[in-house]
This record gives sequence, C-alpha cells and structure tokens, in this order.
Amino acid sequence: MSSQSRNKFLATLDGHVEATPPVWLMRQAGRYLPEYRELRAKAPSFLDFCYDPKLASEATVQPIERFGFDAAILFSDILVVPDALGQNVRFETGEGPRLTPIANAADLKALRESADQSKMARVYEAVEIVRSRLPAEVALIGFCGAPWTVATYMVAGQGTSDQAPTRRFAYEQPEVFQALIDRLVTVSIEHLVQQLKAGAQAVQIFDSWAGVLPIAEFERWCLAPVLAIAKGVRAQIPHAKIIAFPRGSGVNLPRFEANQDIHALGLDTSIDPAWAAAHIDRQLVVQGNLDPLALLAGGRGLDEAIDRILTAFADRAHIFNLGHGILPPTPIAHVEHLLRRIRGG
Ligand code: CP3
Repeated sequence: MSSQSRNKFLATLDGHVEATPPVWLMRQAGRYLPEYRELRAKAPSFLDFCYDPKLASEATVQPIERFGFDAAILFSDILVVPDALGQNVRFETGEGPRLTPIANAADLKALRESADQSKMARVYEAVEIVRSRLPAEVALIGFCGAPWTVATYMVAGQGTSDQAPTRRFAYEQPEVFQALIDRLVTVSIEHLVQQLKAGAQAVQIFDSWAGVLPIAEFERWCLAPVLAIAKGVRAQIPHAKIIAFPRGSGVNLPRFEANQDIHALGLDTSIDPAWAAAHIDRQLVVQGNLDPLALLAGGRGLDEAIDRILTAFADRAHIFNLGHGILPPTPIAHVEHLLRRIRGG
C-alpha cells in the first residue's frame, strides 16, 4: 500500500492507533442530504431504490463526495433480507416499514429457505459499482441486521418501542422462533459473504434492539446468533473484518470479547466512553458514540461531547461515529464542523 492510498479505517480495524480517528456516520447516506432526497425521488418505492444498483451506488458515494468520510456504507436496508425470503415488505412514507407478520410455524414455512438471488444480485452489483468508484483510501462497509433485530420486524410487522410482540413470540413458541433465528443466521452469513466478495472490506451487524432483552434471552437471541454469523463469515473469508453493533447492551458489551471473530464493537449513545475505555478489552476496536441529537443541536454541547469521546479513546484504536443513525433535520454545517473538530485544522 503506498502512503497515498493508506486506508485509515482498515488500519484502525487492524488495531493501529491513528493520530486522529477515522470517521463515518451511521445513516450517512440519507434524508439530511438534499442530493439524497433528489435521487430518492427517482424510484417509486424505497425497496425499488435499494434494489437499483445505479441509484443505490450513487446514494452510497454521495456523502463521501460531499464530506470525505473515511468509509462508505452500502446504501441498502436490513429488511431486504425478509423481502428476499418472500415476506411482504413495504415502506410507508413517514411511517416506516410494514411487513405481513409471521405468527406461527406455517408462516415461517411459507418463506424461502434462502434469499432470492435475482433480488440480492442487484445489491452485490451496487457493491461492485461503489468499490470501483471509491478511492483506495476510502473503505467500503457492507452490513446486515442481526437476526434478533430483523426478527422483531418480521414478527411484529412493524417497528415497536419495546418489541413486546416478538419477546412474547419467543417465550410462547421457542422452537419456531429458534428456527426463524437459525434461518436468518444462515441467510445473513451468505449475504455478508457475497458483499465481501463483491468488494466490501468490512461488515457491520446491526442489532438495534439488543437492549430490550433480559440476560438469558440476550444470550440466546442476540449474542449467540451474532457470534454464529461472524464465525460463519470468517470460515469462508478468513480475513473478513466484522463490527458488531448491539445497541442497548450496556454492561453486557464485554461479552463480545471472548471470541476471535468480532474485531470492533459499535457503542450506542448511552455508553460512557470512559467506562468503555476501562472495561472493553483493548483487542477490540471501539466505534462510536456521539449522540445524534448533539450533532443536530450543535454548539458548545456538541464540542464537549466530541472532545469527551476523543479524550477517552485517544490511546486506543477507535473509529469515530454516532451512537445511532444521523437524524434527518441535522444541519450539514454541523457535520462539516464535526469533521474539522475531529481532524483538526
Ligand atoms: O447510510 C447508511 O447507514 C446505509 C443505509 C442504511 C439504511 N438503513 C437506509 C435507510 C442502513 C445501514 C440501514 C439499517 C437499518 N434499517 C436498521 C439498523 C440501524 C438502525 O437505524 O437502528 C434498521 C432498524 C432498519 C429498518 C428501517 N429502515 C426502518 C425502521 C426505517 C424507517 C425509519 C426511517 O428512518 O425512515 C428504514 C428506512 C430507511 N433505511 C431509510 C434509509 C435512508 C429512510 C427511508 C427513505 O429515505 O425513504
């Protein structure tokens, strides 16, 4: 690698401590960007947009061209997996996803065993286009939803605040729920492997709803499936770099340490960076964890929050990010300010 094409994000995932951390933002391609809103208007539905290699690749590259982040994340959605398994998935404008709920063993049986490759091939084509457009110093991240988080949408048929329908399903029909989780583990391994083969250099597993489960269920439905995916991906692609983002895991975060397959842990907004620096093994790279609302609000509170994160992780491998996705009303000037403050100058 020449010094000019040095990839700071990948070096950090390898454990190098950089003078200033690499930075990308969850949901960095999205509605806060006017160019995204313009592009999004070209597809009839959100899923059509995700499955259009030209539009999806363009949306992925937009925030890199505007801000020069150190990594791009593929523009897609975690719910392409249930869609490609044959579940009915729609996105209602302003209301979020709507799926035909999985209520029992018969509904699960009606789904495909593996994802429809005529749909997924278009996602991997987007990955190829993006990789060919990005300079070598910008990394490309692929992703999937963790089985628990994807299952919450598949069972409830929509987002809920406490995932009560899916928690209840898991208690009442544990064998059926286990079969659903196992199906998602298998399909997610395949989905991540294909993204890596198409040009993604790291993958992130989003477990956005890991925080709602008691400990035994956390171990069974979050920790075990995420580790199984990481292991399965690395069995096929030994050099694959894997970031886990178990949002809301709190003091259970160190449970991700005892394996060799997870390289980085995404920290959500609630984690004190000083606690994470003291309690998460230095072998694990940390990523996060600015409050998206602090970025939206700006001002002195934003600067203090950025500095607290930079100080806590100054002497260890750290990828700067938000603790959850960027919010649509976030001013672009605040993102520019964030980058200046992190990078200096
Ligand atoms: O820039 C990126 O981060 C890449 C693209 C990306 C999207 N969704 C695009 C998107 C990624 C990585 C996701 C992950 C995702 N999708 C998660 C996990 C992360 C998290 O936010 O917790 C979840 C739970 C979903 C499911 C999902 N997709 C919901 C609940 C919604 C509706 C809420 C919303 O923000 O509108 C979506 C839609 C969605 N996915 C949008 C985008 C840009 C907005 C729709 C639009 O622009 O028309």
